[in-house]
Amino acid sequence: MYSRNSVPVTVRAADKSDADLLTGLHRKCFTSYWNSDAFSDFFTVSGTYALLASAPEPVAMMVCRLQYEQADIITLCVLPEYQRGGIARMLLKMAMDNAASLGATQMFLDVEDGNTAAVALYQAFGFTQISRRKLYYRQKDGSFTDALVMTCKLA
Ligand SMILES: CC(C)(COP(=O)(O)OP(=O)(O)OC[C@H]1O[C@@H](n2cnc3c(N)ncnc32)[C@H](O)[C@@H]1OP(=O)(O)O)[C@@H](O)C(=O)NCCC(=O)NCCS
Repeated sequence: MYSRNSVPVTVRAADKSDADLLTGLHRKCFTSYWNSDAFSDFFTVSGTYALLASAPEPVAMMVCRLQYEQADIITLCVLPEYQRGGIARMLLKMAMDNAASLGATQMFLDVEDGNTAAVALYQAFGFTQISRRKLYYRQKDGSFTDALVMTCKLA
């Protein structure tokens, strides 16, 4: 079991019944957050899986989708006060291992250009940028930012 400042961090699979919990975490981690319906909808698509980390209250989550040989990271976030403690590293490793064990050979994700923390995390796991989606994310002020598309082969 992983622990942060001596507090155990446990991880369990999350599902549609956790949509409100996942939304609450997303809201605290992103300026443009998704509502509970969005999270419920994710789980209607087969191959969607999610991880919820608690310490013991929910502190981080990750949603992925696995379709045939392709795995996608839909979202990943760690509450600000729990960041830089290795929780995202742990979730990402679990998600990559899970996808590989189920037959996926490659993982993809979109990340906002300028999100240095997330890009550094993904690069540390071997993800590289393969393309850019111009003006993909809408900001609260109405402006738009690009998404970087990154990918990594799974072992
Ligand atoms: C990106 C995010 C998930 C990282 O979570 P985290 O638990 O803090 O990350 P970890 O502690 O596991 O860090 C693992 C590695 O990622 C990189 N990293 C993480 N945060 C970083 C930061 N602020 N600056 C630079 N590198 C960073 C480092 O390589 C780090 O390894 P190190 O601590 O040995 O240097 C977190 O900052 C977050 O939730 N941000 C807001 C939501 C978001 O942007 N999600 C990503 C959407 S694609």
